[in-house]
Amino acid sequence: MTFGPVMRVVHPEFAVTLAPPRRDAMPQLVDGMSRMSVTRYTVSRFGVGWTPEDAEKNFDDLRSAHDGIAWGIHVRELGDGSQSGAGEPTRLVGITDAFSITNGATRVATTGSMIVAPDLWGRGIASACHRARTWYLFSVLGFDALRSVYFSANTASARAVARVGYVQVGLHRHGGWYRGEALHDVITECVNPSDAAWARWWGEDPVPPEFVAARERTRAALEWAEQHVELL
Ligand SMILES: CC(C)(COP(=O)(O)OP(=O)(O)OC[C@H]1O[C@@H](n2cnc3c(N)ncnc32)[C@H](O)[C@@H]1OP(=O)(O)O)[C@@H](O)C(=O)NCCC(=O)NCCS
Repeated sequence: MTFGPVMRVVHPEFAVTLAPPRRDAMPQLVDGMSRMSVTRYTVSRFGVGWTPEDAEKNFDDLRSAHDGIAWGIHVRELGDGSQSGAGEPTRLVGITDAFSITNGATRVATTGSMIVAPDLWGRGIASACHRARTWYLFSVLGFDALRSVYFSANTASARAVARVGYVQVGLHRHGGWYRGEALHDVITECVNPSDAAWARWWGEDPVPPEFVAARERTRAALEWAEQHVELL
């Protein structure tokens, strides 16, 4: 497993496509990945200050990973309200992935996302991609649970993962530091809401109430994806 299959995701403003990035498109990420404003919450994972060579190396790392699935996040402005956005250039604006995949009694992956273009933040692109990725991992591949770790100050990440049903299960204090502020790693999990996966995950244990509520959010995300994600 290296890159995931092409998925077209309906979005009101953009044609959003999750697809393997082209190696020669990776330098499109360099500008964003060299800005601390973009990388302050991911610097420990990706570093900061990219050159085109770093971008291409990242492509090679993703491509050769045996325990991960990654997609490039591609967007194209829908100039005339049509879903085709024909004529507009497609931009590679980020990467979303599922890594550290375990294939034991349960199948679990850790997910992450990065959109390097601040002009695109807050416009629902990550939320749409999270729904598509969650749907692919749960409904298509049958993963049991997903994990995500984000820094406590990263409100956008917190809201985006909560929306699809991730729940905080832990906190590792002092994972990072930025401009005088301690950054704590928030550890979250999202459980596949299907009856079979749910029963396998929780066994005889009482299910924490926050996971019961989150199950409905995940179900809603998967239902949305059934209608709005086209798996090519
Ligand atoms: C985190 C990130 C992926 C979110 O992407 P996005 O496309 O801006 O997210 P969305 O527009 O789908 O918004 C997701 C939620 O966050 C909220 N949000 C977005 N930007 C926000 C901000 N700056 N402050 C507070 N909330 C914000 C949205 O309102 C939405 O919440 P809601 O569903 O409750 O309304 C993006 O900001 C990013 O890549 N940042 C830099 C790298 C990074 O931090 N990656 C995550 C590492 S764990």
